[in-house]
Amino acid sequence: MEIVHVSAECYPVAKAGGLGDVVGALPKYLSKSGHTAKVVMPMYRTKFLYQNEWTVDFKGRGQMGSFWFDYTIIREKHDKLGFHLYLVDINGLLDREKIYGYGDDTERFIAFQIAVTDWINHWQHKPDVIHCHDYHTAFIPFIVKHSYQYNRLSDIPTVLTIHNAQYQGWMGWDKAALLPVFDTWKAGLLEWNKTINPLAAGIKAAWKVTTVSWSYLEEMRYHANGLEKLLEYEKGKCAGILNGIDTDVWNPETDPFIHTHYNYSNVDAGKEANKRQICQEFELEQHNPLVVFIGRLVGEKAADILPDAILSSLYSLQGQVNFLVLGNGEPHVEWQLNQLKEHFPGNYNVFIGYDEALSHRIYAGADFLLMPSRVEPCGLNQMYAMKYGTVPMVRSTGGLKDTVTDMGDWQGWGIRFNHASAGDVSYSVNRAVDVFADKKQMTAMRTHMMQIDHSWEHSVQQYVDIYQSLKY
Ligand code: ADP
Ligand code: GLC
Repeated sequence: MEIVHVSAECYPVAKAGGLGDVVGALPKYLSKSGHTAKVVMPMYRTKFLYQNEWTVDFKGRGQMGSFWFDYTIIREKHDKLGFHLYLVDINGLLDREKIYGYGDDTERFIAFQIAVTDWINHWQHKPDVIHCHDYHTAFIPFIVKHSYQYNRLSDIPTVLTIHNAQYQGWMGWDKAALLPVFDTWKAGLLEWNKTINPLAAGIKAAWKVTTVSWSYLEEMRYHANGLEKLLEYEKGKCAGILNGIDTDVWNPETDPFIHTHYNYSNVDAGKEANKRQICQEFELEQHNPLVVFIGRLVGEKAADILPDAILSSLYSLQGQVNFLVLGNGEPHVEWQLNQLKEHFPGNYNVFIGYDEALSHRIYAGADFLLMPSRVEPCGLNQMYAMKYGTVPMVRSTGGLKDTVTDMGDWQGWGIRFNHASAGDVSYSVNRAVDVFADKKQMTAMRTHMMQIDHSWEHSVQQYVDIYQSLKY
């Protein structure tokens, strides 16, 4: 089968979070299982663009309301990533340094979606499935199904994966005119709660909707940032498929970013060496358990509770634990985390920013990875942590619930807690300090976690089953 993935992110081309990791991996594993997987994404100005060879695949013109724009589709020449990668260049709109965060993001992503649809409309054949990811690409199922101009494509099955329903792309009604022309009586399909809602439009129009864990799918019935009733209504076409991890990229035996390679048979020595290196780098005391947080410093991740949680743990445990944070996001959280630094030299440090290589070094050197998330559709960090023998400490929600058990349960291997609160985190840090003191149990947990299979193979088969069910 031929599957076209449409996304705003794809690792290693451009990534802001887990969406990039998934779109960089799922198509690769689809190709490995014998399918033709293509990824099409905006052409941002990223390192990857300048470091690889490209050929022009197509040049076209798109119409966004009364505005016409030229677009070019370029293709990575050598299929280096294990799938066919196409970038959409729209001069002045997409060719920027950041992925998101511009005042005209609405227009940027609508133009991108129009260009993708227009390009596919020029193909001699039709792909078997168009698979869209998150709200930035969620108009495509609607455009393909309902616009006059592209009605040749209306029988192509579309799948929409919701990686995160917190972001829906809401926009005013004045923007409806930017979309390719459709029957006015279909306008209601774009709407949710009196505004245009691209994610809701995608949920209504896509043939199948998936989300990235079973528990998140279940939780969305009650907490989906306003989409609860829509998801209840559409539940017949919804499915939860857990993400996997790309073991070509995330593997402590081969990871080019880490100091010392290791596997489950020499995990203690391997982690010790990597911990020494990261502790030196961040001037942390080496013998304490090292608890880390890696991620976007936003409300969903409960990053706002980190300063209090770290403060109370460091006071109550009196220097018996270390914390290291890597992240960026809300300025007041960044500021508070920076302030803490001067109070706990040797026990706490933070790196504000985004640094892919550093994240790998931290997964390898840490003892525990903290994820107090309020919302976590899947979460990849906890799976990377486990692959690197780092014990996950997670709030019981979404994908965290589906991938981590508690060490207090039969054959459990992580630490789980219920509330995104400083109290629950401090209590869990206490448990972590206790288990860290029990070397035998630590080794057993690490060895066990590293052998858990989180690879993409299982999930890819579930996607293939869905694609096939739409085709026949
Ligand atoms: P989300 O997509 O909601 O941010 P995930 O757990 O699915 O959460 O994925 C986060 C991805 O982004 C992981 O690959 C993680 O290592 C990476 N990441 C997050 N913040 C940073 C950062 N500041 N520096 C480097 N990598 C980061
Ligand atoms: C989203 C979610 C995260 C998930 C990722 C990849 O960003 O917040 O939980 O792992 O997408 O699906």
